[in-house]
Amino acid sequence: MLHSKASQWQNILIIFLCILVQFCSPVNAAIKPDIGALAFSFDLGNVQLSQDRFLDNQGRTLNYLKDIDVERLLYVFRVNHGLDTQQADPNGGWDSPDFPFRSHVQGHFLSAWAQCYAVLGDQTCYDRATYFVAELKKCQANNKASGFTDGYLSGFPESDFAKLENVTLSNGNVPYYAIHKTLAGLLDTWRLVNDTTSRDVLLSMAQWVDDRTTSLSYDKMQEILQTEFGGMNEVLADIYHQTGDDKWLTVAKRFDHAAVFNPLAGDKDELDGLHANTQVPKWIGAVRQYKATGDSRYLDIARNAWKINVNAHTYAIGGNSQAEHFHAPNAIAAYLTSDTCEACNSYNMLKLTRELWLVDPENSAYFDFYENALLNHLLGQQNPDSEHGHITYFTPLNAGGRRGVGPAWGGGTWSTDYDSFWCCQGTAIETNTKLMDSVYFYSDSTLFINLFMSSILLWPEMGITLKQSTSYPVSDKSRLEVSGSGNWKMNIRIPSWTSDVVITVNGEVLSNVQVSPGSYAQISRSWTDGDVVEIHLPMRLRTIVANDNSSMAAIAYGPTILCGNYGDQVLNSIPSLALDSIHRMDDSDLQFTSLADDKNVPLSAFYDAQGYNYNVYWAITGSLPTEN
Ligand SMILES: *[C@@H]1O[C@H](CO)[C@@H](O)[C@H](O)[C@H]1NC(C)=O
Ligand SMILES: *[C@@H]1O[C@H](CO)[C@@H](O)[C@H](O)[C@H]1NC(C)=O
Ligand SMILES: *[C@@H]1O[C@H](CO)[C@@H](O)[C@H](O)[C@H]1NC(C)=O
Repeated sequence: MLHSKASQWQNILIIFLCILVQFCSPVNAAIKPDIGALAFSFDLGNVQLSQDRFLDNQGRTLNYLKDIDVERLLYVFRVNHGLDTQQADPNGGWDSPDFPFRSHVQGHFLSAWAQCYAVLGDQTCYDRATYFVAELKKCQANNKASGFTDGYLSGFPESDFAKLENVTLSNGNVPYYAIHKTLAGLLDTWRLVNDTTSRDVLLSMAQWVDDRTTSLSYDKMQEILQTEFGGMNEVLADIYHQTGDDKWLTVAKRFDHAAVFNPLAGDKDELDGLHANTQVPKWIGAVRQYKATGDSRYLDIARNAWKINVNAHTYAIGGNSQAEHFHAPNAIAAYLTSDTCEACNSYNMLKLTRELWLVDPENSAYFDFYENALLNHLLGQQNPDSEHGHITYFTPLNAGGRRGVGPAWGGGTWSTDYDSFWCCQGTAIETNTKLMDSVYFYSDSTLFINLFMSSILLWPEMGITLKQSTSYPVSDKSRLEVSGSGNWKMNIRIPSWTSDVVITVNGEVLSNVQVSPGSYAQISRSWTDGDVVEIHLPMRLRTIVANDNSSMAAIAYGPTILCGNYGDQVLNSIPSLALDSIHRMDDSDLQFTSLADDKNVPLSAFYDAQGYNYNVYWAITGSLPTEN
């Protein structure tokens, strides 16, 4: 195959850039391998997004990360630990000086800056992460003068833990939730930036957790675990992976919440009524504990939780929960309100999905879900009109819902630079700085392609660069160009919603490769520099019927959930959609015509539905056109 001069130069440039990025991001590898892992992720710096919808989201979040006043973010830590606030203004919203779990959001900023540096080698993000940790270290060092015990680090007093430990004193705070975020941010700054101050502050803080919990009885701990505590079991298991010190597994185990784990271990769905995002981090902790201990009960808990949540509690867009809570199994149409699908839950479900897939990489269903939640929930959570990538807390699914309007965090209002700092704002800055982290994975000499996104992968162990070019999901094709040669296998996820898939290599249809929806197409060959793989995943209209009412459904085209555009019109009830009226207008974008309540209603990609009233779930009549 002949190369044009331009593409040769492009490849050389790409390899050079990737080597540069590699060189600037010294990832600090874990000491303990993950037990049971059969596939592995690439270092963040080895995958770069190319121009597309995802890269735009990343850019807006980067603007915010580089613009936000770091001194204001330090305010609550400095005040609490008796240091000068440097005349900075305090923040508002969930970081204001009187908000109970203030200081929860800073850990998200640390993780996001660390990811920004790991992905892009960005100096501003590096400087911000390392400065912030150095300032946190000063706060921690002033503990004696502030009356706190060694290692403590937070924006609220340590006495909140005495209140948590004694029910009669409870003030309703969720202090471990905030502590978890700080620990996770420090851990990311240690492992992605290789900042040793982060390691020291982290281990001292983790030691504080050990000291605080070591003398509490099992029953007392279980009582404490009734209060939201984030992913304490997860981060402590990760500290074990990073240090190799068994002690952290003992501390992690103290955060095993029996009332939630026991039914899940027995594959029982007892989620009804539970606060949803309090649970998902515990499940991630369970799979991390499995990978640390090999105890399969942890894996059962995490797998069952995933299956139960995805099958019985998840809306068509991949999100779960209403008013932050789980309801009865399959209650979907019953709860189409403006406060559906808290974004943190999907951020956490993506983490859980990835962890589970890594021990089960034959199972493409995990990435069918991953693609759905990322594309249809989290991508559109961000406001494309906001230079700083502001987001909504919930994604409304009521008839005529709209992102970015509604009361406080009860509807869907956009976040702000300094006056919101909700949990979902924190998880969104993480999401939008690691959008590329699950496109590719490897296992020995097998490369997995799990997502279709324009991107460039550097696979140094195999001397391979892979360039993926696509406008998916607008287009149903993706093109992969290989630079470098050698014998290896390419496993391409074939989504379960497609059919009649065609894969070609250098223009020739592969005859000896099994290509079935809901599995991986496996191409083993001796690759030659310049080989081109083209994947055609035909898309069709499909309905995603509500589990609890077969007359109600959302509409998808291939992987993309479509919604009706109602402009500023208010809807008082669920519109009735004539399925046979839906037609795509043009191959170049995702615009469809339809008839709903006998009126013309344009349908388009839900991830682009910002700035107007939309409808996602319909009362359906008739059937989809046979040719679509
Ligand atoms: C990480 O930092 C340590 C201590 O400064 C250094 O010895 C080590 O080489 C660094 N690791 C990488 C991968 O750069
Ligand atoms: C809890 O606090 C109450 C009120 O101060 C006190 O009387 C009680 O002894 C405490 N219980 C424990 C177990 O510390
Ligand atoms: C199911 O949905 C249809 C269409 O919205 C509605 O008319 C019907 O009452 C619903 N059934 C139940 C049991 O809620």
